[in-house]
Amino acid sequence: MANFRIYDGEANNVATKVFGGKSSGIRDWDNIKYPSMLDFNKALFAEYWNEDEVKLGKDVEEYREKLTPREREVYNIISGKLNWLDSIATDFNFVLGYLCTDSSVRSVISMIASFEQLHNRSYQYLTSTVLNQQEKEQAFEYTRRIPELVHRNEHVIKPIQEMVDAAKDYMLQMDSDGYKAYARDMFNLVQKFNKKEQTAESHTKFIQDIIDLTYKYSVQDRDIKISDELLLTILKGIVGNIVLEGLYFSGGFVYFHSLARDQKMIGSNNMISLIKTDENMHSTFYGMLIQIIMKEEPQLATKENYDYIMAYIKEAVAREKDWANYIFEGIDTLSIKEYHDYVEYLANLICRNAGLEEPYPENQELKSKWIATYGSKKRTGGEDEIVTRTDFLQGNAINYTHESGEDFDL
Ligand SMILES: [Fe+2]
Ligand SMILES: [Fe+2]
Repeated sequence: MANFRIYDGEANNVATKVFGGKSSGIRDWDNIKYPSMLDFNKALFAEYWNEDEVKLGKDVEEYREKLTPREREVYNIISGKLNWLDSIATDFNFVLGYLCTDSSVRSVISMIASFEQLHNRSYQYLTSTVLNQQEKEQAFEYTRRIPELVHRNEHVIKPIQEMVDAAKDYMLQMDSDGYKAYARDMFNLVQKFNKKEQTAESHTKFIQDIIDLTYKYSVQDRDIKISDELLLTILKGIVGNIVLEGLYFSGGFVYFHSLARDQKMIGSNNMISLIKTDENMHSTFYGMLIQIIMKEEPQLATKENYDYIMAYIKEAVAREKDWANYIFEGIDTLSIKEYHDYVEYLANLICRNAGLEEPYPENQELKSKWIATYGSKKRTGGEDEIVTRTDFLQGNAINYTHESGEDFDL
């Protein structure tokens, strides 16, 4: 009798709301509230790939022969860090999908979750191919051990964990009152049955009574409303996730692009570029979802909440810059200044996606063009080769832009 219903025969196929609404659960892609969901579903699926498409043979040699000890160390730390982010992303999507009441949106979320798992596999493939066993294990442990990294990561974990906790409370709370009454009525039913003479007819009636009782309570629970407090917690969780997707991931990818620019670890960078394309799409989707929530729940679209989001993103930028100062110390393939600019550029992107003002006017354009050159991908169709192309977002080639200037159809 939880509020998540895989099927509700009395509701329409078109959802009333993305969170706290109703829908039948039947997918009819011709008949959805937000047509962009079908575009997203197709676009995500079109990027389907497998980790072993990427050949890493040369990287195995180059890791030992071409990288400096510090470059190797940073390679390991960043690989482990990115794997951690994908681990969080997998579970975030799982929980959010459970809260979502629009089945077309839920389908997109589950598609995203499947790609996050693919990314996890990719980091396993990358590290177990290039590193030895000890280095690999260590790479996955850095996330717990480097205080600068822990500090940065806490910023995204907090709102996401709060969303997960609230989701759990929400489910239990929904259940508790209903379950008490349900348990009481069920107990009485069993008592009554036990007192009667046991016949084939009384057994059949008993089973039917159980079915009727269960149905009665499941119907009663259907109209329990979602609170504004929970909606806000979900919103904050999604904001945490867009920082995770659009800022913390993308920032980590740049190191691999910088090595590729230096003609090192091209295979690793090809894999990272595949992941990056997916993450950019996820970031766009979640920016759009924030806009949808603000439109569906105007009571959340307050100055206070927008100020919170902006302050949260700016704090994320500050922590990312601090992290960069630490991790790129002793690295010659990129400069910390250009990384700082890139972080601001990314923050502008995620704000734009979420319909917010860009907080860093100085970095509306990508200053370090090589990041787009070495951080993009396409398939040639020949022997599964993967080469560069204009980036999904950074070339401003967003599929979801319409001539009206709006980012998507609401
Ligand atoms: Fe991912
Ligand atoms: Fe993602």
